[in-house]
Amino acid sequence: MTVSQAEQDVADICYEEDDLCSNPHVEHTIGDVISRRQLLKTLAAAGAAAMLAPSTEAVEKLAPSVNRAVNPSTLTFEEVAHGLSLDTEVAEGYEVEVLLRWGDPILSEAAAFDPWQQTAERQLGQFGYNCDFIAFLPLPPLSNGAPRGLLCVNHEYTNTNLMLPGITGPQALLQLPREMVDVELAALGHTVCEIQLEKHGWAVQRESVLNRRISALDTEMVVSGPAAGHPRLKTSADPTGKRVLGTLNNCAGGVTPWGTMLICEENFNAYFSGAAGATPEARNHKRYGIDGPSRFSPAWAKHYSRFDIEQEPNEPNRFGWVVEFDPHDPQSTPIKRTALGRVKHEGAGIVVNHDGRVVVYCGDDERFDYVYRFVTSRAYDKSDKQANRHLLDEGVLSAARFDEDGTVTWLPLIFGEGPLSPENDFHSQADVLIETRRAADLVGATPMDRPEDIEPSPTNDHVFVILTNNDQRSEDQTNKANPRAGNEHGHVLEMIPPAQATGADHAADTFRWEVFLRAGDPLEARDNAKYHPQTSQHGWFSSPDNCTFDAQGRLWLTTDSDQESTGFGDGIYACDTSGNGRALPKLFFRGPRGSEVSGVCISPDCETLFVSVQHPGEESGSDFQTPTTRWPDFSAEMPPRPAVVAIRKRGGGVVGS
Ligand code: FEO
Ligand code: CA
Ligand code: CA
Ligand code: CA
Repeated sequence: MTVSQAEQDVADICYEEDDLCSNPHVEHTIGDVISRRQLLKTLAAAGAAAMLAPSTEAVEKLAPSVNRAVNPSTLTFEEVAHGLSLDTEVAEGYEVEVLLRWGDPILSEAAAFDPWQQTAERQLGQFGYNCDFIAFLPLPPLSNGAPRGLLCVNHEYTNTNLMLPGITGPQALLQLPREMVDVELAALGHTVCEIQLEKHGWAVQRESVLNRRISALDTEMVVSGPAAGHPRLKTSADPTGKRVLGTLNNCAGGVTPWGTMLICEENFNAYFSGAAGATPEARNHKRYGIDGPSRFSPAWAKHYSRFDIEQEPNEPNRFGWVVEFDPHDPQSTPIKRTALGRVKHEGAGIVVNHDGRVVVYCGDDERFDYVYRFVTSRAYDKSDKQANRHLLDEGVLSAARFDEDGTVTWLPLIFGEGPLSPENDFHSQADVLIETRRAADLVGATPMDRPEDIEPSPTNDHVFVILTNNDQRSEDQTNKANPRAGNEHGHVLEMIPPAQATGADHAADTFRWEVFLRAGDPLEARDNAKYHPQTSQHGWFSSPDNCTFDAQGRLWLTTDSDQESTGFGDGIYACDTSGNGRALPKLFFRGPRGSEVSGVCISPDCETLFVSVQHPGEESGSDFQTPTTRWPDFSAEMPPRPAVVAIRKRGGGVVGS
């Protein structure tokens, strides 16, 4: 690795990682060379950024909010205005409580947070960095009836320059000492933390024996399913190919019907360094974007040989999986379920099919990559939790082809079928799963505009596919399911499984699909956006990413947009998915500048909305010493801290209505 290869803006690293395209079946365009984003950065450097980022006041003058008297939405809150703020903004009548911040102690013996004295040991007892997916698992209420539960939160990645003092350039990143690398490894993974609702809001129960940190540094995991123990998973530290240290880049996830968590490994490639061509896995590693120095973490391979693919060529094959663990047992060993394939898993949308089998929908978040579905072989056993322990080890993984006539065809990825044969270097189902992307390339799946969350609606079984953006799609690469060239703003598809007498058939060979909305500015002709016609000037958005449904089947979307381009911060947008207010989004909450609003979760009583505010202050030129916001502490002693917030209606009531 050379220093010059690491000569890049540290603040840009995290923005760009999931913007790559490694699908060799897709022709690269001029957009690969000059993206709009790069153009905007150039403009910003020339002092033009102010022209591109109107103030909240300016946007407010453009158009008023939707007139509530004629608003057909079932969501009754008055929406927030677009804008960029140092703090969060929420709809009138709601309160935002900062519940868990990076560094907050969550284990009883954990040290108080001091960003100047951080160590890996301290971090392992504290809430991790860059919170993402959230699940709330109810526990039996207290004797006074107060709700309590486990808050389960992913920690996706670290912003080295925002979390550690003195990391002000690529040289510092490259020369990061091992102690600091260990802090980063300890800050990744997952937190399980008991919370309960008290008079003034939710309170963290630090003494709970259920609290737990899972990390990339010290949590041992096992591998199960068809690829477990395969020679391509064996390393010098693990000759069995069945034991892995840690999990990386846990983005979104899901909760199984039997109460376990699925946490998904997304941009795992970003941590590995080395020349793919110097390994026996060159084609494989390149398809996942591993070749050359790590863009996130060039120092990791210096301190740990497992992150150097020239020393440990199989180590990357041990990441990119869906990890299952039991949050109710702090001693439980997380399990990497290889049957669900190896991609940059965004999340896992789970539903029990009408016949009892379990279906998991997954997006592979990269430009021109695919939508997947896994169907278990056996049915879920409601009466015996233990019987479901290995349900996710057997089943059929398929990739989606979106046909022009509105059909989704699910293409099974089964060794020995079609092109998945020795002629194409697949010698077992393990090979198919380790190289899931190449298998999906060969069966003819449809390259999509970065599939993020995929979630089935609880009210009508329609499955919503969030496609965040793809500014590299050229005109001749468009199709009905990815209809816009240079798709800067993303879109949402709705997949409709066929109905059976006993319910929707999520395991069917074909579904129907349609476009639910196309994001972007409805007043900007070149955006060619599509929403409900009454969408207001504050209700449109760019780059939808994660989502959840409330009990009424209303969609709550979070965004991960280019704030320099839109001029407003990311937020939560809610909309109906049926009725007169279908696809009419309203801005409910906005994060502080530089932040992405990622994981979103609604409590079972629908009275609390938990949301992850990820990487506040992640902007060009922003670092630990001089961040663009110090949210949420606003103390000169504190850098910005990613945090989970709890949003409740003042006086109580269902969120949104
Ligand atoms: Fe981690 Fe695709 O968001
Ligand atoms: Ca995401
Ligand atoms: Ca994203
Ligand atoms: Ca993110």
